[in-house]
Order: sequence, then C-alpha cells, then structure tokens
Amino acid sequence: MTVRNAVAYDHRLSKTLALLTQPGLLLAATRRNGESNVMAIGWATVGTAWGRPIFQVMVRPSRYTYELLEESGEFTVNVPTGAMRDWVTVCGTRSGRDFDKIGASGVAVSRGQGVATITLDESPMVYECRVVHRNDVLSPNLDPEIAASAYAGGDYHRVYWGEIVGAYATADY
Ligand SMILES: Cc1cc2nc3c(=O)[nH]c(=O)nc-3n(C[C@H](O)[C@H](O)[C@H](O)COP(=O)(O)O)c2cc1C
Repeated sequence: MTVRNAVAYDHRLSKTLALLTQPGLLLAATRRNGESNVMAIGWATVGTAWGRPIFQVMVRPSRYTYELLEESGEFTVNVPTGAMRDWVTVCGTRSGRDFDKIGASGVAVSRGQGVATITLDESPMVYECRVVHRNDVLSPNLDPEIAASAYAGGDYHRVYWGEIVGAYATADY
C-alpha cells in the first residue's frame, strides 16, 4: 500500500486542481452499512470558510453518490494515479446504482484515518472531509448562460462543503 503522510490541505494544490480538470478526481462515499461507491468529479473548489479548510464538491441528485453522501455526511477526494485514468472514465460514466465499480476494478480501498469513508490505497493524495454545510444551486440566482449550458435538463447540483479534517500525500506527490 502507498505510504501517505499528513500534509497541509493546500499541499501541491495547483497539481490537484490540474488533475480535477483532466482526467478528474475521485469522490468516494461510504454508507453506514459499509457499502462504498466512487464517482469522477470535475467541478470543485478548495479554500477556506468559517476559519476551516474546505473542499466543496458539486453532486447532482441523480447520482447514486448523492444518496450515500446524504446518508453519511462525509466523503473523501482521491487523486488518481496515471494507471487509474481509464477507471476515472468508468467512475464518471457508470453508476454504482447498477454496477460495482470498486469490486469490478479490484482497486484496493481502506477506511480513512479520520472518517469512516474509504480512501483508495494507491492514490498519491487524499482529502478526508466532513460535510459542514450543503446547499443547492438555485436557478433564479444563477447566470443564465450557465443555467442554459449546465442545467437544461434540471438536476441542479447540491454543493457539499466538506471540512478537510485530514489531507495525506505520498513523499513524491
Ligand atoms: C471527468 C468527469 C467529471 C465529472 N464531474 C462531475 C461532478 O463534478 N459532479 C457530478 O454530479 N457529476 C460529475 N460527473 C458525472 C458522474 O461522475 C457520473 O454521472 C457518474 O456515473 C456518477 O456515478 P454514481 O451514479 O455511481 O454516483 C463527471 C464525470 C466525468 C467523466
């Protein structure tokens, strides 16, 4: 298993943000019964609010992951390795509702250090997050151009504000 050490939440942030754009990062959630799921994310922000480090992720209610997040109130964000690129696409196109993405891939997972949610063993950096606020994108408040391009079919994202309770990275990330 990859050895990761505790790092500041903004450790190599520009590198993580570049991977958010291409190929995407991996958002993991775990139910109380232990079932876990992973989905690709491309839209997220990292910063500070209420004096706390925050990883804000945007999840549409149609995603299976949404159900898990609503139940658990926590998530992890996992940076993929180069070898995981194809799997990121799988995680961004198949739903955990009808396909066991983790089981089918054989990717090794372990519970987080400060959360019950899984992290991916091979990820060079992971963020463990506890949801401290959630809000929905509201059409009347949204730029009309974005509304037209991102929400023609409705399914407005829910924004989860995850306090980063732990960030861990390999020595060479
Ligand atoms: C690169 C990439 C980035 C994505 N980013 C997001 C995102 O930020 N939010 C979202 O709701 N869906 C996003 N998606 C779509 C979900 O990953 C996709 O619908 C996935 O199948 C949902 O899985 P689930 O139903 O198991 O939760 C993205 C897909 C890809 C390929």
